[in-house]
Amino acid sequence: MAEQSREVLRAEHISKSFGQVTALKDISMHLNRGEVLGLLGDNGAGKSTLMKIFTGFHQPTSGKLFLNGREVTLKSVAHGRQMGVECVYQDLALVNEINVYRNMFLQREPTRGGFLGILNDRAMRKAASEHLGRIGVNIPSVDAEVSKLSGGQRQAIAVARSVYQKSDLLLLDEPTAAMGAKESAQILDVIQRLREQGDMAIIIIAHNYAQVFDVCDRVNLVEGGKIVFDKPTAETSVQELTDLVVNEYRMARASVHEA
Ligand SMILES: Nc1ncnc2c1ncn2[C@@H]1O[C@H](COP(=O)(O)OP(=O)(O)O)[C@@H](O)[C@H]1O
Ligand SMILES: [Mg+2]
Repeated sequence: MAEQSREVLRAEHISKSFGQVTALKDISMHLNRGEVLGLLGDNGAGKSTLMKIFTGFHQPTSGKLFLNGREVTLKSVAHGRQMGVECVYQDLALVNEINVYRNMFLQREPTRGGFLGILNDRAMRKAASEHLGRIGVNIPSVDAEVSKLSGGQRQAIAVARSVYQKSDLLLLDEPTAAMGAKESAQILDVIQRLREQGDMAIIIIAHNYAQVFDVCDRVNLVEGGKIVFDKPTAETSVQELTDLVVNEYRMARASVHEA
């Protein structure tokens, strides 16, 4: 296992351009172990691009990235995973036709405290049940085929899978998008449980900030590739965020009318 430094993530002056498009401009942030950051913002604000820089999928055009106190240049998502970064995307990379416990161990290389390569079926089943129980994921049975589960249950399993290997930084890109209230609540419960365990730092991208507000220690609002608002949740409110977003919407409308 990597060293357990308190500061898990630090980004300094990160910018990212795709040809003529500047997706991120001078982003700086840091996150400690045990903290949950809510990354909010409109479509196209740059949230996913920032996540993809943290996972190693994209390389920044400029700026520095530090993981566990050390500067890193991530070459790929695999490299990011080796460095302790896990990501759950909206499309989940689970295999529908096989059961829950096999999905848990799908393509998990025996790295970072893992010995998964040598687990047999029975051991996998047992390990999956224990792990799901520990983080509070509620499913009928680990023998259930994934296609038989609800969207929320599938997402919960994807989250469980991504934390099995003790990541330092867990990134969730819109984990409750297109989910019903009950399913969303299940995901948020899992996140809350992980937050209480305090082993990792978590960034959760969300459109519906009212929904994630309670599980976050801090919220950042991204607009036009910049962080325009950064406060601990204890010092802000859903109302203040709503006012900000409404204001942003009014400005956007005004500029449409001017054009
Ligand atoms: N691979 C890419 N190539 C070109 N432009 C991109 C690419 N990925 C994202 N962008 C652009 O960067 C901006 C930010 O996108 P994104 O990070 O996906 O926003 P969000 O996740 O906040 O909706 C958008 O203008 C988007 O069109
Ligand atoms: Mg996105």
